[in-house]
Amino acid sequence: MKFDLTGKKKPSWDGRQISVWKYRELMPIEREKSIISLAEGGTGLHRCQRLGRKLGLKKLYVKNEGENPTGSFKDRGMTVAISKAKELGKKKVLCASTGNTSASLAAYSARAGMECIVLVPKGKVAGGKMLQVAMHGARIIQVKGDFDQAFKTALELARRKKELYLMNSINPYRLEGQKTLAFEISDQLDSKTPDTVILPVGNGGNISAAWKGFTEFQQLSIAKTRPRMIGIQAEKAAPIAKAVKGRQSKIRPVHKPQTIATAIRIGSPVNWPKVLKAINESKGTAETVTDSEILQAQRELASLEGIFVEPASAASIAGLTKLRANGTVDPSETVVCVTTGHGLKDPSVIELQSKSQTGYNLEITNRTSLDALERIL
Ligand code: F0G
Repeated sequence: MKFDLTGKKKPSWDGRQISVWKYRELMPIEREKSIISLAEGGTGLHRCQRLGRKLGLKKLYVKNEGENPTGSFKDRGMTVAISKAKELGKKKVLCASTGNTSASLAAYSARAGMECIVLVPKGKVAGGKMLQVAMHGARIIQVKGDFDQAFKTALELARRKKELYLMNSINPYRLEGQKTLAFEISDQLDSKTPDTVILPVGNGGNISAAWKGFTEFQQLSIAKTRPRMIGIQAEKAAPIAKAVKGRQSKIRPVHKPQTIATAIRIGSPVNWPKVLKAINESKGTAETVTDSEILQAQRELASLEGIFVEPASAASIAGLTKLRANGTVDPSETVVCVTTGHGLKDPSVIELQSKSQTGYNLEITNRTSLDALERIL
């Protein structure tokens, strides 16, 4: 959606706390009473000195989107899109999802009193997310194949049945909400633009929405500059990163994408033209990371900084680690990594992560074992 901001002044936001609706003048909602909210946005921008030192960076921040009401960044777009759906008189909403979109849509449609249908790739969605969808009372349809098949099915259903309102990231109102990620980063840094913003990329909605947000703040003269945008994908689900690295103007879809980061297990990302535009305009880049790099980054962020994120989110940290090693990111830069979803959403990594933990399995049954415990602690 286009807002013509040329010559416009910054709205008066003084005294409002950061949140999606702080910026309501830049949202496509006609009436305030249509707003359906669960208190989204206002997530922490955490200075990470311990991880920063390890990566040789003085100014590393993590914008932790897992702090949103359903545990992912999706809530920013969903509060706006559901509010708009209400204004448009919609009663039934639909999405295809790798998990977080469906968890968010299920919660917001419950709050709005709308019927919700979600299509997910069968057996490929993290347990916590499935639990959320079920608890919020959405109808779950498991589709054989990948997200890409689920998405095609959702598109076709919405085309055939007009009362089904599609809430995937091609819905323009979702991206309007998601752009507040950029507004908040700018506000939290006192309008100083970071040099580099790094995000995991699946369908590409979030990175393009963030770029739109930084652009609008520049148009309103709130920020002087825009950051460079870097997108990270899992190695075997990386059509966008491959196109960027190969300097191609189009992506080649990946057949049967694979990664433990199920949230970004997408072979044919629908927003790819917008992502390439954001990366090119910002003089950014894209990188790929392996599953073991993702798991290591997940562990490091949790153990060094106390921030527990799901594997897809850890891809941004894994990507930064690689970009520091190859010199793409310089020690003097101010870097913001966006972590998109909470770690508790995907308990399946416990098997893989617990192997690397030092643990003692002692039974305290008598005096001797308590003595043993005392000695090792
Ligand atoms: N991180 C997480 C935790 C996600 O759930 C997603 C996308 C992304 C990153 C990538 O964001 O698609 O805007 O580039 N999840 C979608 C879903 C596909 O259905 O929940 P994107």
